[in-house]
Amino acid sequence: KRRAGERRRSEANLDVVAAESDLETIFDNKKTEEKDENEVVEEEKGFWEKVKGEKQSPEDIEKAKLDKIQAKENKRRVWKYSKPELPLIVVGSCASLIKGTFFPLLAIFFSELLVVLFESDTEVLRKDALKWSLVFYGLGIASGFFDFFQRAIYELIGERITTRLRSDTFRSMLRQDVTWFEHEDNAIGSLSSRLSTDVKLVRLVASQSLAASIESMSSLTTGIIICLIYSWEMFLIMIAIVPLLGITEGLQWMMLQGSEGDMRKELTKNTDILHETVNGIREVQSFALESFIAKEVKTSLFDTIAPASLKQAALKGFMMGMIQFVQFGVYALAFWFGGEMIESGRIDFEDFNKSLWAMAFAASGLGQAAIFAGDAAKASAAVKSTIGNLDLVSDIDSKPWENKGLAEVSTGGVIERELPKSILSGSVDLVDLNFAYPTRKGAKVFDEIGLSIPSGKVVALVGSSGSGKSTVIQLLERFYDPISYKEEVGIKGTTTSVKTEHNGHLLVDGEKLIDSDCRFVRKNMGLVGQEPVLFNDTVYNNIALGKSEGCTRAEVEEAARRANAYDFIMKLEDGFETMVGNAGGMVSGGQKQRIAIARALVSNPKVLLLDEATSALDNESEKIVQASLDNLVKESGGERTTIIIAHRLSTIKEADVICVLENKGGGSKVVERGTHDELMSSGQKYKALVQAYVK
Ligand SMILES: Nc1ncnc2c1ncn2[C@@H]1O[C@H](COP(=O)(O)OP(=O)(O)O)[C@@H](O)[C@H]1O
Ligand SMILES: [Mg+2]
Repeated sequence: KRRAGERRRSEANLDVVAAESDLETIFDNKKTEEKDENEVVEEEKGFWEKVKGEKQSPEDIEKAKLDKIQAKENKRRVWKYSKPELPLIVVGSCASLIKGTFFPLLAIFFSELLVVLFESDTEVLRKDALKWSLVFYGLGIASGFFDFFQRAIYELIGERITTRLRSDTFRSMLRQDVTWFEHEDNAIGSLSSRLSTDVKLVRLVASQSLAASIESMSSLTTGIIICLIYSWEMFLIMIAIVPLLGITEGLQWMMLQGSEGDMRKELTKNTDILHETVNGIREVQSFALESFIAKEVKTSLFDTIAPASLKQAALKGFMMGMIQFVQFGVYALAFWFGGEMIESGRIDFEDFNKSLWAMAFAASGLGQAAIFAGDAAKASAAVKSTIGNLDLVSDIDSKPWENKGLAEVSTGGVIERELPKSILSGSVDLVDLNFAYPTRKGAKVFDEIGLSIPSGKVVALVGSSGSGKSTVIQLLERFYDPISYKEEVGIKGTTTSVKTEHNGHLLVDGEKLIDSDCRFVRKNMGLVGQEPVLFNDTVYNNIALGKSEGCTRAEVEEAARRANAYDFIMKLEDGFETMVGNAGGMVSGGQKQRIAIARALVSNPKVLLLDEATSALDNESEKIVQASLDNLVKESGGERTTIIIAHRLSTIKEADVICVLENKGGGSKVVERGTHDELMSSGQKYKALVQAYVK
């Protein structure tokens, strides 16, 4: 028996049918044999595990407790967030309060009408029927009006909260560092669902669910009062049964929560696939991958989403059935009890009807609240991800705004942060630096690398592919902090990567980069990446955004000239006003490069970072871009520190210093350093590189 129980517990995803039969087994067991208490508890736990679709270890239970506390806290935060809407919420709540009384009131009129129908004098019957019909009519109009009023107000509240939340969520995403965006939980699919679906669900908490609970509370209270007025005995019997309804609804709420998470995860995965497919539509078509991808999506839909939603639907149906059962049971009991009371003359027919229907109508209001509770279950997952998102502070926080993701209610918006007006002198030092990418903790990129670049010098980084040249630039831009990891064997023999304590320093102007204001440092640097990305805007705007404020037309044109881009831009159909297309798709590779160079130059940065800017180009455009790079290197004239990753001899030769990076296993180091002539005459790695790779 016990083994069977264990097997049952270990099967994670069972549907309701199995869960139900399990429930039967538990009850059967209790009936047929003596069991020690622990065993029963264990078995019951097995049932709940199955219903929720997961196994629960002590840690899980602990986590669930914390989650509950967190969920409460999150709810409180949503309320705080809704504070500006308070006046509207009060008005809406009043409307709900009034509307809630309508249904139980209807019970009184309904009972009067019933009594009228037993009237034997047809003339009186006609008159009374007309009177009560008119009352119904009036109540209908009033109810319609309040319903409209209430809905309109809550929609308005919801819309306003959603708009603010969406903008704040987007802002808090922008604050995150590169590592955060590389995490699988933050793929484009989940980010966009956070912005579109989740923020919409959050409003349920603050608007619809509030309306529903106020309405049902008011409805219940009115029902109780009416019932009490007409028959306290009926009230007593009804009040004994109503908690039963509450229990069934509570059960339903608990069950709906579990499977929601699985479905959300799988759906975001699908969005990710969609995004990848759209981005790489040329690859998909050229490799004829359509049916492969379609199959992948189909599998995820049929294997995960369909069973999960089926499970959810089955649970929902089961619980709805239970609620119906209990409700009808309540009626049955009430009718029986009423009949007994009427017979014994304790209550008359009219009062019995009034008290019965007042409670019955009030209970149906509760049922509606239960439907909203289901939505609230969905909302709580969404609230968790959105509110959690607002709080995130990344390790590398460029602090674009004074306030956090959550816009301060008091200020009503974002507070821009003033940057220091001073400029860098532009010296760069890597001191015994260790580094590994957070996504590949095991592969050390740098092993105590040392590299000193005085301000105003031109330094060329050379080395074979994968030797960490681009990584130097990533670290200088502070996309990552210099952190490396070592393997540590845990208690259970599992190895985990832990951060090593000493990873050296990266200094800019003699100050540790991790201590300095990275937004300020970034503004003083110009970057042209390996594959620069342009934004879907005009050529002019793409260049001008290199200097965020106060960029003049003259500066943009000057930057374009220095990047060797002015002539070709003038030949475009709309000149500087030409749109570059999505990700710069409407200009050629060489043109894109040169626009990117102009963008990096427009703010006259003290440090210029150029990463193999010519690698993706055809021969002719490479020559043009190369010429502009060579120009830059020459014209810097000791004014600007330039770090260039190049594979063209013409550029490298002009550099003040050439540093050769080499990874002999366990991380790169600078193995050679000097001018072109010095390194050629020493005849080591550099000479070999020049002969092998450099054109
Ligand atoms: N974002 C990243 N995440 C994980 N590993 C990376 C990432 N970028 C580069 N790497 C790895 O770091 C090493 C150095 O890469 P990189 O600096 O791009 O070399 P280079 O520019 O000299 O060709 C390579 O082994 C590469 O695979
Ligand atoms: Mg590279």
